Amino acid sequence: MKDGIPLAGVIGWPINHSRSPVLHGYWLERYGITGYYVPVAVAPENLREALGSLSLLGFRGVNVTIPHKEAVLELAKTVSETAKAIGAANTITFLEGGGFHADNTDAYGFRENIRQTHPDWRADRGPALVIGAGGASRAVIQTLIDEGTPEIRLANRTRQRAEALSEHFGGPVKPVDWSKLEDATDSAVTVVNTTALGMAGQEPLEVNLMRADPEAIVSDIVYVPLETPFLKKASSQGFRTVDGLGMLLHQGVPGFQAWFGKMPVVDADLRARVLG
Ligand code: ATR
Repeated sequence: MKDGIPLAGVIGWPINHSRSPVLHGYWLERYGITGYYVPVAVAPENLREALGSLSLLGFRGVNVTIPHKEAVLELAKTVSETAKAIGAANTITFLEGGGFHADNTDAYGFRENIRQTHPDWRADRGPALVIGAGGASRAVIQTLIDEGTPEIRLANRTRQRAEALSEHFGGPVKPVDWSKLEDATDSAVTVVNTTALGMAGQEPLEVNLMRADPEAIVSDIVYVPLETPFLKKASSQGFRTVDGLGMLLHQGVPGFQAWFGKMPVVDADLRARVLG
């Protein structure tokens, strides 16, 4: 551990929209830890030097957001298996002898969010349908693979991207046609929207879930609004739902623990603070 008051933060370009300072700031205050978590704007061309400087200044680590999530993998001394599999990192920790370790906690955040809300969730009970094949989809797929999902149906507007992810992950990931979304819900025990559809200002995601397993968990990574039209419909059809805010909150847990030495809790108070 480095000496001095613990420092951590989040780097991105732009960085002003990040909710991570509120999240970590809440935990620092709640646990009475004297430490700081700050947003740092880092332009892509300055990434290497900025990381070196943060390490010299005594930062214990940083969260990494757009557009640096892939680039940090190239600069890292060590990379976790999860970050390798996802192809991106969101949490880095500076090492004693120089350099840094890169990890990805989005898959952890997705899993812990569902577990906290529905502890009896068993992804290995049946197929999953993942909608969308962007960056967030990779973390969701990684979790579903880790949880032993027998078949992961992947639907994306641009089919090519779903095929590329299926090739990357192999095994149970099967691309399905965007026009066959409804067929792909058949017997699904996990259904996840990873697209921006349903976000405030965007069109809603319309999927009829009637053929899904009656005990299915339906989840959305969008959290503005908290209850997307997709989740609202799922709820009204009797399915159990999980909103996207929890994934954001839970993904911050491992970083906070590594940098500030305390395993923080995600609860209703924290949700209210981050929403506020
Ligand atoms: P993220 O990292 O948040 O996943 P991304 O990599 O830009 O962001 O991916 C966005 C996802 O939302 C993609 O799956 C995208 O589909 P395409 O690959 O076809 O672009 C999906 N998406 C965005 N707008 C959409 C829309 N209007 N209809 C259907 N899918 C949409």
